[in-house]
Amino acid sequence: MFFPSKSKSMVGLDIGSSSIKAVQVTETKGGYRLEKCGIRHLASEMIVDGTIMDAGSVVEAIRGLIADEKIKVKDVAISLSGHSIIIKKIKLPVMTEDELEESIKWEAEQYIPFDINDVNIDFHILGTIESPDGQSLMEVLLVAAKKDKLTEYTSVVAEVGLNPVVVDADLFALENMYGVNYEIREGEVIALVNIGASVMNINILKNGTSSFTRDISIGGNRYTETIQKDLNMSYDDADRSKKGEAIEGVDPEMVSNVISRVNSEITSEISRSFDFFRTTSAHEEIEKIILSGGSAKITSLPGHLHENIGIAVELADPFRNIEIDKKVFDSEYLKEIAPLATVGLGLAIRRIGDR
Ligand SMILES: Nc1ncnc2c1ncn2[C@@H]1O[C@H](COP(=O)(O)OP(=O)(O)OP(=O)(O)O)[C@@H](O)[C@H]1O
Ligand SMILES: [Mg+2]
Repeated sequence: MFFPSKSKSMVGLDIGSSSIKAVQVTETKGGYRLEKCGIRHLASEMIVDGTIMDAGSVVEAIRGLIADEKIKVKDVAISLSGHSIIIKKIKLPVMTEDELEESIKWEAEQYIPFDINDVNIDFHILGTIESPDGQSLMEVLLVAAKKDKLTEYTSVVAEVGLNPVVVDADLFALENMYGVNYEIREGEVIALVNIGASVMNINILKNGTSSFTRDISIGGNRYTETIQKDLNMSYDDADRSKKGEAIEGVDPEMVSNVISRVNSEITSEISRSFDFFRTTSAHEEIEKIILSGGSAKITSLPGHLHENIGIAVELADPFRNIEIDKKVFDSEYLKEIAPLATVGLGLAIRRIGDR
């Protein structure tokens, strides 16, 4: 998206607020082979709501991860989400890509709630449509990233000695992940939902391309914090109990009641976005939710979503169509990490100039 250059192989580096994921693939004749896939957890105060609070520790964590995984490639693709990035689908009079390049800043001004000089603008032409009055219009995906956030993330990466050659959005990395792993049926409408620690990304794809996107500031932290508060537990105990561990003196049923309440909160956010999508898209029906992110591991969440939204829910498998050497990767490990690796994999397969 930003910083185009000519490198080939790059590492997908997903700098999340609860962990950093690094994924590397190589292109094969028929697709991709997994080369590296690792994760390093971060303490909860290092990145808060997308802001790097402790750059030194984040640099150390990335350095450690790169060393552990023996990653030699220097070029990396990273991504932003939440408040750091704004994605809007806009309609413009038909023009050439060069013309749009010239005018995008001016066009974007009315859609971006920030000073246009504080953001980097990128765009992707989706296609042309006919307006109700018979006029031809061009649909454009407008992407604006806050310059201060870009600098915040690219400078930690640079500090490690890596080159941030691509900065993408989590939402688009998810779309790439889906594109390489799933057969796209003509006319299909599916929702990619990635629930991390502090952000939930929703990307509704029609025929494999974004039709509706939204980032919402809710995720796994909400479970931990609510358990902590309501059951008067330490943050660590709350986090462990959320993951199904028994904590002495704590009734598991009370934990699952709190989890169920947060499930409802997350479900209603998703449902609201789906309603909004339907009003803007000729009442198309979403066939399936493909769920990922660490919070997809809340065991009662997929069922809760399915029962309350009435749409099939499937856990994302970012390695579904990726060649895996069983001698190098333990299949149990990959299964564990899979829901967390969707953005990283999507970044790893990113090629410069793709979008
Ligand atoms: N087994 C599990 N059960 C429940 N929750 C889990 C489990 N494993 C991880 N999580 C939660 O998943 C979240 C981390 O997921 P993920 O790695 O996708 O987020 P992130 O990318 O670091 O965060 P974000 O993108 O929101 O900044 C954390 O809230 C973590 O507690
Ligand atoms: Mg994430």
